Amino acid sequence: MKKIMVYCGLITLFSCVLSGCSKAQKRQEERQTASAVKKVLIVYLSRTGNTKAIAEIIYKHVGGNLVALELEKPYPQNYQATVQQVALENESGFLPQLKTKIDSIEGYDAVFVGFPTWGMQLPPPMKSFLHSYDLSNKMVIPFNTNGGYGIGSSFDKVRELCPDSDVPEGFTMTGGSERDGKLLVITGSKVVEAETEVVKWLRKINLIN
Ligand SMILES: Cc1cc2nc3c(=O)[nH]c(=O)nc-3n(C[C@H](O)[C@H](O)[C@H](O)COP(=O)(O)O)c2cc1C
Repeated sequence: MKKIMVYCGLITLFSCVLSGCSKAQKRQEERQTASAVKKVLIVYLSRTGNTKAIAEIIYKHVGGNLVALELEKPYPQNYQATVQQVALENESGFLPQLKTKIDSIEGYDAVFVGFPTWGMQLPPPMKSFLHSYDLSNKMVIPFNTNGGYGIGSSFDKVRELCPDSDVPEGFTMTGGSERDGKLLVITGSKVVEAETEVVKWLRKINLIN
């Protein structure tokens, strides 16, 4: 009996290796064999321009449609008031109404989603976006700038909200720190540095040659 169980285990393991264990793994394999993604959308949220700068670099190398995410009711100009509002929204799960509408999302193969870290989370407007559109069976590619504290839970949240998408490794770099009066930082020579890193990443995830 023990022997039979061992054989069964081995057969399962072997067929798993042959067929690819998980859906995500399968998608990743397909991506590696598919040379170029055909239709690309780049959606980004940016308050002080850093994430926008990264979005523009991606656009320069990948093309597609570049779209800024705008709200029906924008956040206050004041930084502290925004921090407080975002904290309340994160706590209650409130999803702000988007002004930006994407036509025919089903036509895109790959959707880049760019956002700053807000309160160590995915900003509520990007949560709204991912709740509003069905991105199943597409690549959903996250990119981020932050004030030096990293991505927090934001990339995990993208994966959670896109369970049937292929979400490869995201891109992140330090941007501004509005709290300390540092607004647009990815400018001038920093754009050149950022471009080198973005290109490295796009090659790694097989989106450019
Ligand atoms: C409401 C708010 C919350 C923020 N929370 C964080 C945070 O938790 N961690 C962090 O590293 N940076 C935080 N930042 C800083 C931004 O992530 C950083 O400045 C980013 O580069 C801004 O991108 P943007 O210029 O595209 O708006 C926060 C900024 C704002 C406005």
